[in-house]
Amino acid sequence: MKITSGSVEDSIRALIAQHGKISFATFMASALYESGVGYYSDPKRVSESGDFFTSPAAHPAFGVLLTLQLHQMWVMLGNPDPFNVMELGPGSGLLGDDIVSFSRALDPNFASALDYQRLDRASLEFGVVQSGSGETTHCILSNELLDAFPVNIFQIENGVVREKFVSVAEDRLVFQLGEVSDPEMSARIEPYLNQLPEGYESEVCLGLSNWAEQISRMITSGYVISIDYGYTRDALYSPQRSRGTLLCHYRHTVATDPLIRIGEQDISAHVDFTAVDEAMAAAGLEPMANLDQGELLQLLGIESYLDRLMEDGLPQRDIQANQYALRALTDPDGLGRFRVAVHGKNVLDHEIPAISGDKVASFDGVVLPALDDDPRRVNLFAGAYGGGEEISGTWEELLGG
Ligand SMILES: C[S@@+](CC[C@H](N)C(=O)[O-])C[C@H]1O[C@@H](n2cnc3c(N)ncnc32)[C@H](O)[C@@H]1O
Repeated sequence: MKITSGSVEDSIRALIAQHGKISFATFMASALYESGVGYYSDPKRVSESGDFFTSPAAHPAFGVLLTLQLHQMWVMLGNPDPFNVMELGPGSGLLGDDIVSFSRALDPNFASALDYQRLDRASLEFGVVQSGSGETTHCILSNELLDAFPVNIFQIENGVVREKFVSVAEDRLVFQLGEVSDPEMSARIEPYLNQLPEGYESEVCLGLSNWAEQISRMITSGYVISIDYGYTRDALYSPQRSRGTLLCHYRHTVATDPLIRIGEQDISAHVDFTAVDEAMAAAGLEPMANLDQGELLQLLGIESYLDRLMEDGLPQRDIQANQYALRALTDPDGLGRFRVAVHGKNVLDHEIPAISGDKVASFDGVVLPALDDDPRRVNLFAGAYGGGEEISGTWEELLGG
């Protein structure tokens, strides 16, 4: 059922009135993606003026270093022309703009082969492009896409896996426990039942298999790079994490109640990277690397980045802001702890397809971009030290995406 007028909460209430209690995944899909009224209908949500920010906003180095990674993959695939890259969930498009722009400075042949496409669930073309995709994509890239996939919530009650649904009581949206709606939920949790305490709750993302099948259909031979916060399943369902990983972001503060500010706050959950591997494997995509963002950016040369900027004449007044932002990208307590999963299909070499050695240090004649005043960028240094607009929230909240 689709309601186009009114708020997203009206639409969710109407759904419950018609069908009874709904799964949290159904609630989350409406709250985030309901056409015209869902949270992601407004592309400014992920920004300094919005509710939270992501790695591309911290510094253009993120896009630059991923361009080096893409260039390496292009070479490994035999320099295809066109080289089709599809970014899924691009949001404001900042990452893609940084990649396309730096590819020109890096290698004109690569730049002319690079065909960089983006597809966001919030865009009108989503359904059309998705159903019409051919099999020619060489690389699928995403940053903080999977954490935005709708999840079901479970709770352990009397030693049994039960599901938390969303319902209405006394005119308020409330949670309601019931039997699990999909046996896959119990199957994922049962191996951990004997170690999880009574009342333990967490999330299960059931949409990964469909997604992996869809993207696998788009690739004949190539890679998938998925960057997100999350854990292996063993770590995700550790007994200590007894309240799950669901988080809501609203104006750079973190909240835990998803049933308020519906359509106004982001809702996300940590990614089960074991489930990602399983879904990818079933779709014919083999795991090739799983490392943290800090490690990958170091492999690609982030430690030489500031020196290069300074050699190229970065003004003294900009040094600290650049240094601070570059560190934030690799901070093991912040963005640096994000996982980077690389999967491959029909690719010969099963080694980590990262550049060996620090390419940034050895660049000749390539000017690297410094922190700029693109309004989609966030000045972390100014926020932390009062040199500019203030951003509220703890360090971990700010960097926790
Ligand atoms: C947390 S935002 C990240 C935006 C951007 N990648 C960044 O790093 O700033 C998640 C984005 O993924 C999009 N999205 C969610 N599910 C999607 C799907 N199945 N396919 C494409 N985009 C999706 C959302 O609309 C949203 O723009």
